[in-house]
Amino acid sequence: MGKDEKIEKKGVSRRQVMAGAGMFAATAALANFGGLIKNAEATGGSTENWPWPYKKLDPAKTAEIAYKEWYRVFCGAAVINSVVGQLREKVGEPYTSFPADAFVFLEGGQVGWGTICGSSAGANIVANLIIGPRVAGAHEGHEISKDLMQWYSETALPTFTPKNPKITAHLPTTISESPLCHISVGKWMKEANKPLKSPERKDRCARVAASTAYRLVELLNEWHDGDYESSSDFSAASEHGITGQFNCMECHGADVPEPPQA
Ligand code: HEC
Repeated sequence: MGKDEKIEKKGVSRRQVMAGAGMFAATAALANFGGLIKNAEATGGSTENWPWPYKKLDPAKTAEIAYKEWYRVFCGAAVINSVVGQLREKVGEPYTSFPADAFVFLEGGQVGWGTICGSSAGANIVANLIIGPRVAGAHEGHEISKDLMQWYSETALPTFTPKNPKITAHLPTTISESPLCHISVGKWMKEANKPLKSPERKDRCARVAASTAYRLVELLNEWHDGDYESSSDFSAASEHGITGQFNCMECHGADVPEPPQA
């Protein structure tokens, strides 16, 4: 079977595949500059001024806030608000002006499309606000984001139980092996045998947001104290020559395709 036939059989149009390949090439070309953003000025935004000051927060208190906020603005904005809300009080500007609620669209893996879990996306936004521009190819904000993606993928979630949960019955935990909302929520729904709109699924996601906020603040506190060391040990881009997650076989089966080599 020819490659095109194979692609057609899988219901993926040639155009989609080509668009994907083009995007990869563009990303690789940018990455070759050795650092996407050298400093805030390089972005062309004269008003840009980051990183922003950080004061240590209590992980459990932050997680409780994220849990409650989930029921107002869902996962992504809940995680962002759990940190930004407290820093508005402890630091003030620029946190006061930061429109954290605007990130409500992260809900459901971005407007229900099941891509990256909003909790991870929200946590990564916060880490990068606080830790600052990418210099010489990497910086600790990216490292914290990588740690969080890997932690999210490998941990039995949720890890955090709020003091006064809306659902008092036991909720199962599941390991998603992926930072994707679709896969994380799907595996949990299968294990719990609960539909998407059930109060249990909602509470599970509120607790995942709380768990992620907890982990984020632990990492930020370590970084603040100069004790932070990256724990992530995976990069699909450098190990496989394609952006991706570690669980190649879960989607591709035994026949994981090889990307074109440079
Ligand atoms: C969440 C599911 C998922 C995961 C995880 C995943 N892939 Fe893919 N991958 C796909 C889909 C869907 C396509 C597009 C359809 C296709 O070509 O099979 C694709 C396409 C590709 C392609 C280019 C197109 C092709 O088929 O040759 C390569 C190369 C590839 N994947 C390699 C990997 C590697 C290596 C990993 C692990 C580091 C991985 N994938 C992880 C779903 C996944």
